Parts: sequence; C-alpha cells; structure tokens
Amino acid sequence: MLQSDVSFPHEPVSRDTLLEAAVAASREAGALLLEYADAGFRIEYKNPVNLVTDADHAAEQCVIDRIKARFPAHRFLAEEQGRLEEAQSPYLWIIDPLDGTTNFAHGYPAYCVSIGLEYEGRCVLGAIFDPSRNELFTAIEHRGAWLNGRPIHVSSTMTLDRSLLVTGFAYDIRETPRNNLNHFSSFALKAQGLRRTGSAALDLCYVAAGRFDGFWEVRLHPWDMAAGSVIVREAGGRLSNFSGNDLSIYGQELVATNGQIHEAMLAVLNQENP
Ligand code: IPD
Ligand code: CA
Ligand code: CA
Repeated sequence: MLQSDVSFPHEPVSRDTLLEAAVAASREAGALLLEYADAGFRIEYKNPVNLVTDADHAAEQCVIDRIKARFPAHRFLAEEQGRLEEAQSPYLWIIDPLDGTTNFAHGYPAYCVSIGLEYEGRCVLGAIFDPSRNELFTAIEHRGAWLNGRPIHVSSTMTLDRSLLVTGFAYDIRETPRNNLNHFSSFALKAQGLRRTGSAALDLCYVAAGRFDGFWEVRLHPWDMAAGSVIVREAGGRLSNFSGNDLSIYGQELVATNGQIHEAMLAVLNQENP
C-alpha cells in the first residue's frame, strides 16, 4: 500500500518508512560485517592498495535484498555491483556496503555501512551504521540529523588553527598527480590537528556530529558521499566542491565543514602553489 507523508505529500512512500528500511538494512549488514570480522574473510586485490573482501560482497547483497524485498521497483547503485536494472522509479538507493575496507581487513574498527536515497535526483535521506561502536547516523532532508536517535549538530569552531580536520586518499594515489599530498601538507601546517581515518562516510558523520570541523577529499565516489552528505547538511553543515559550488555526489571533489571554516578551507585548496 502506498503511504504519503505529511511533510512531503506528493511523494509515493513516506520518508519515515524509507528511512526505517535503510536503518534495518544497515544494521543487518553491519552485524554481518562483525560476523565476518570474527570468523575470517577472503581478500581479493583490485590493485596493490585497493582490496575487496567477501564481507563487502555479502553485506552489499544483504542491503540490496532487504530493500528490494520492500521496494521491488526501486533502482540501485551499489559499489560492488554498480547500477542494477534501469527501472523507471524516481527512487535510487546508493549503497557502500563496507566503507573502510582497508581498516576492516586489518582489524582496525573504523568502518561502516552507508545507505543513501535519491528521490528525483536529489539525496533525501541517509543511514550510516558503525557496527563496532554501535553508532547509527541518520538524516531526512528538512527534518534533521541524528546519532542513535538524538539530534546532532556541526561544531562552532571559527578558525582553521582551532580545527580538527580529516581527509583521505584515493586508491590511485601511486599513479595520479592529484594525490592530495599537497593539500595534506598545507592543512597539516594550518590546522590544530589532521586525521586520516579510512572511512569517508564516517568522516562525514563526524563532521555532522561536531567531532571534526572539516573534511576534504579529491576522488570520492557517489556511494562514499550520498548518505553522509544529507547527514552533514541536516546537521547544519556546508558542502561544496573545491570551487565552492554545490556538491554533486557524482563530481569526486568534496569539502564538508561546520560552515564557519568553509571559506578558509577553500582558500587553502585553491592556493596557487600549495
Ligand atoms: C574508501 C574510504 C576511504 C577513502 C577512499 C574510499 P572503501 O572507501 O572511504 O576513507 O579515502 O577514497 O574509496 O573502499 O573503503 O569503501
Ligand atoms: Ca567507500
Ligand atoms: Ca566500500
């Protein structure tokens, strides 16, 4: 049966129902990841630094199966399987079944399941579950962002030298001149602290929760950003590409901040000879 939502009456399915499906799938896939972490997993190498495990595949299948069972006509874009059949639905689920695979493979407990949803091409909700800490980050467009059901908000830090920043490096770091090392050294000299956690989706959640003040990365994928971008926006943060234009999750570059330090970060990212 179709349900409408008081806040979005034109949409065929209530956003609460959709978020509830994303949350259930992320929790189930997260539990599966912990089982694999405990029991052992197989690793395949896409290149020397880019790996994938059977836990990635199993978690992805779990998320797709669960969501498809409830919304069989919806479309899917998932990291390991790519775009599934091209239906006509206005809904597109964007899934990273295991963000932080390198951490996972080393037993470093900083990884998550990330599930975002586009409606008519706009990211409208997201659920990101960190099974090691039992932390569930969620957001619905225009309704807010939550950590384990409690509202979260970005930090109020005003300057870079009081900021804790985070970044990441893409798997082609050894081949591309856009390897982010120039920006990494610039920010290392300007920020209070700089981290590389290995999970872009959690980096976004931590900006939303005020744990980090800013995050940038050069070559991300839509599944790294879809859910987290809604969570940051709904927590009061600002998102853009390096030119300061609105973020596109299909555009690779991302800057996500508390808003206060956004211009200062853009200035560093755009300086002539960093
Ligand atoms: C990676 C992580 C990492 C980021 C990479 C991503 P994966 O995703 O989010 O933090 O720096 O760019 O590809 O491969 O672990 O899902
Ligand atoms: Ca990822
Ligand atoms: Ca992944």
